[in-house]
Amino acid sequence: MKRIAVLTSGGDAPGMNAAVRAVVRSGTAAGLEVLGVRDGFAGLIGGQLMRLGPREVGGIIERGGTFLGTSRCEDLKTLAGQDAAHAQLRAAAIDGLVVIGGNGSQKGSWALAQRGVQLVGVASTIDNDVFGAEPSIGATTALDTALEAIDRLRVTASAHRRAFVVEVMGRDSGYLALMAGIAGGAEAIVLPEEPTDAEQLAGEIRRSYARGKSHAIVVVAEGARYNADGCARYFREHAARLGFELRITRLGHIQRGGAPCAFDRLIATRLGAAASDCLRRGEVGILLGSMQGAVAATPLAAVTGSTKTFDTQLYRLARTLAE
Ligand code: F6P
Repeated sequence: MKRIAVLTSGGDAPGMNAAVRAVVRSGTAAGLEVLGVRDGFAGLIGGQLMRLGPREVGGIIERGGTFLGTSRCEDLKTLAGQDAAHAQLRAAAIDGLVVIGGNGSQKGSWALAQRGVQLVGVASTIDNDVFGAEPSIGATTALDTALEAIDRLRVTASAHRRAFVVEVMGRDSGYLALMAGIAGGAEAIVLPEEPTDAEQLAGEIRRSYARGKSHAIVVVAEGARYNADGCARYFREHAARLGFELRITRLGHIQRGGAPCAFDRLIATRLGAAASDCLRRGEVGILLGSMQGAVAATPLAAVTGSTKTFDTQLYRLARTLAE
């Protein structure tokens, strides 16, 4: 292996830059030539490549987002798109590819690996829903961002004795909602993985006040039926009967921006360096994720064929602690 490339794909996550930096610097230190691909798989299909040396990745470890750019690439889901990506790699004499991204991106990785591309995936998404990573790059920073907002909202909620719904990201995954809910001391947590009854939710809020609390904070995941919109609709329609109003805050993409925390910079650095090492050793068709403080490799076939299990015990604990 002489020449490798690295790209970031899907939703950006704080720490992606640190991972690219580590791929480039450890790759060049080992004698590899490293290219960066602009704008994820879309840029690969379009042949948008640039040479990256140690100096080109200076001053980025502390920056959120991804200096390479990223995209959600519909074309890569088609055989024609995969052919085009493969052809660009061959034309540029690229022997190995590192793909830094979440679930959707690693599906693309697996499709290319099956076509013979020597590829290593690196788990990076704020959703923390990639099988083989606990946590993925970016999830811890996003959690801290959500938590800071929840702490602030609790202050104003208490001052007015109000109930607030805070929506955090997570289309299919309740990780951020569950963790932010527990760490933020929420009175209720609503997740895509657990069915929630709106009347029961209203009951929990009412009981919080009855127990002497001065506020109620409900953390909801974007992908839950009773997310910000779902709750707003239900509680507006039934406001007179339920006896209280809800204030709604959707944190949205604020959670994706911001400088990566120390933990995300460190796991990104270890995973990026390990990715270029794996390519050199010919250990390909795998996803690298941080697991219990170490770098773990999982076959991409297993990653795309598995769903991460939801921690029901932690969910039950959250309910107990809301008392
Ligand atoms: O990257 C993951 C994620 O932030 C999800 O939590 C969210 O549902 C989605 O991306 C939003 O995607 P987009 O930025 O493309 O709107």
